[in-house]
Amino acid sequence: MKNLISLPRGTHDILPEQTPLWERLEQNARRILALYGYREIRTPIYEDIHLFKRSLGETSDVVHKQLLELKTSSDDDGLALRPEGTAAIVRSYLQNNLDKKENLSKLFYLGPMFRGERPQKGRLRQFHQLGVEAIGPDSASPFLDAEILALAMDMLKAFGVKGPHLLINSLGSGEDKARVTDWLRERLKDFRAKLCPDCQQRFERNVFRVLDCKVAMCQSVVTEILGQGQALPLSDESKHYFNEVKSCLTALNIPFTVSPRLVRGLDYYTHTVFEITAEGLGSQDAVGAGGRYSGLLHQLGGDVKVNFGAIGFAFGLERILLAQGEQNPIVPSLNAFMVFMDVAFLPQAFAMMQQMRGSGISAGLSYNGGSMKSQLNKANKSNARFAVILGDNEMKAKSVLVKNMQDASQQLVGWDQLIPFLKERL
Ligand code: HAM
Repeated sequence: MKNLISLPRGTHDILPEQTPLWERLEQNARRILALYGYREIRTPIYEDIHLFKRSLGETSDVVHKQLLELKTSSDDDGLALRPEGTAAIVRSYLQNNLDKKENLSKLFYLGPMFRGERPQKGRLRQFHQLGVEAIGPDSASPFLDAEILALAMDMLKAFGVKGPHLLINSLGSGEDKARVTDWLRERLKDFRAKLCPDCQQRFERNVFRVLDCKVAMCQSVVTEILGQGQALPLSDESKHYFNEVKSCLTALNIPFTVSPRLVRGLDYYTHTVFEITAEGLGSQDAVGAGGRYSGLLHQLGGDVKVNFGAIGFAFGLERILLAQGEQNPIVPSLNAFMVFMDVAFLPQAFAMMQQMRGSGISAGLSYNGGSMKSQLNKANKSNARFAVILGDNEMKAKSVLVKNMQDASQQLVGWDQLIPFLKERL
């Protein structure tokens, strides 16, 4: 179409026929989140760019290549659209002193995120996340890790996602991460020339990321230095914590696979990390991911005297909808559709429609009128239970002919009786 401005690459419209599927997903999620005691938090969709740079890691792909900065004409420079939710939730948690108000803040959020990625199936520039964060002083407990994973798996079950598969790993404590960084560099340095260009940079900036590089050559180097399926050399304390998380999962009958190469793309994680994949999504098969990020609270200015614990995850809702497969369409319906036989009757039909709506009866009409047949067709299309017909005789007698659209039965009803008549039958 000439002169039509289309939507930006990597974004999508959610049309009225699709919104009921989103709504159903959200309702299911809210129901389960309430069972687990999580409460909704809403933060702006843009933040100070330094929030993301400081939290997600200057070297992470999300910050390095994908941040969408806002250009404004005022002095509000240095703003970026949020690429994820965790950083902003931690910012808000600290700014609003939630640690002083409650022991453990169990928060969830739902909304659009923005990443300047190369668009492909399941990878968008604007996508929606449903995220969950549990943050509190002294809150690190393997049982909380297990709760978060149980919550994620319960939601996926309620969404009807096919073949969810939970992969978990532990990156160890902050000290472990620093030590393993040196350990990995030492082992990788002789193979450096064999690594892909991205991993050459990761070697310097975040050597952990070499472990989950998808390039075959990098994978074979990692296998050579790590062995097949060998865990990272973590401290006994970190190993113990991870073992407890696994025991809790087993006790809850939640199947999982330990994936020693799972490291995640954002820098803030320590200890437990996880990813959940689903069937039928092709290469972008992670429907959700998350982990522990207790160190981020201090990184973003939290009181150093407080021993914060934090863990969470986020689902990609577009991917969840893809993983649900073909869904039966949810057809909207009206209770009543006004049909008027003369444009002169429109004011009366309009008033009755508003009266019905005011009494909680959903109603509609066709503003351009038309023949009885075409208005009844419109009533049919809007799945109306009843057509409320206003003809010459009815106008004179201050009545309407109410037609049941399912069985075609008809009944004459006085104007003042219309609402109770319909209410009785709906
Ligand atoms: P993430 O792995 O970057 O983690 O994103 C979580 C999920 O969002 C992914 O598993 C995927 O389903 C979806 N997603 C990510 N990028 C895109 C994209 N470009 N297009 C479509 N879907 C996408 C986080 O964002 C962390 N904040 C999760 C977290 C919460 N960790 C702790 N708390």
